[in-house]
Amino acid sequence: MIKIAPSILAADFAKLGQEVKEVEAAGAELIHIDVMDGHFVPNISFGAIALEAIRPLSTLPMDVHLMIENPDQYIEQFAKAGADYITVHVEACRHLHRTIQLIRSHGVKPGVVLNPHTPIETIQHILEDVDMVLFMTVNPGFGGQKFIESVVPKVEALSEIIKERGLNIEIEIDGGINAETIVPCAKAGATVFVAGSAIYSKEDRAQALQEIKQAGLA
Ligand code: DX5
Ligand code: ZN
Repeated sequence: MIKIAPSILAADFAKLGQEVKEVEAAGAELIHIDVMDGHFVPNISFGAIALEAIRPLSTLPMDVHLMIENPDQYIEQFAKAGADYITVHVEACRHLHRTIQLIRSHGVKPGVVLNPHTPIETIQHILEDVDMVLFMTVNPGFGGQKFIESVVPKVEALSEIIKERGLNIEIEIDGGINAETIVPCAKAGATVFVAGSAIYSKEDRAQALQEIKQAGLA
């Protein structure tokens, strides 16, 4: 099973609603929402009001990726705005277990994100509590960057651990995903793929999305 989650960070903000509807019609399975605070990452994007605006325009799950310091402070806002998944960076959470429980207490599926250099050992003891693990395959902060291949063995290793423990966790990959880079990640066991520029920079979004998905299935 391969799910594609277009990142609206790469969309045209002047017509955001239309951009969301277009990728839903093109066969997207989730909408990926990149929230950046200018502190955890060197860039600012948007907050919960953007999610609130697009939530009624789509039936797809909203996958909120918080690249922010102090995520606990904003989880209720994003839950109320209509998040289905909220993922937080292990590097930004001093009390990760508490943060994950807080997300779940709002009826939202929690996930944890690892930067490219962060070892999977940091999440060994939280796997039973999360619905998703997101591997960054670029340094977070910007769309359109080059895929970092050295993350793939981490994906493989986590995939084995999930199988051994019989857990039901989505493995999501974020950064530099296209019809080439999806291949090793899908082989390694990932199931959800974020794609920003590889979809939104193309005239024909449906074709771009289907090309990526088919490459992942092959
Ligand atoms: C990076 C974001 C990604 C990014 C993906 O900080 O988390 O979701 O927008 O964009 P592409 O697919 O262009 O690398
Ligand atoms: Zn993201």
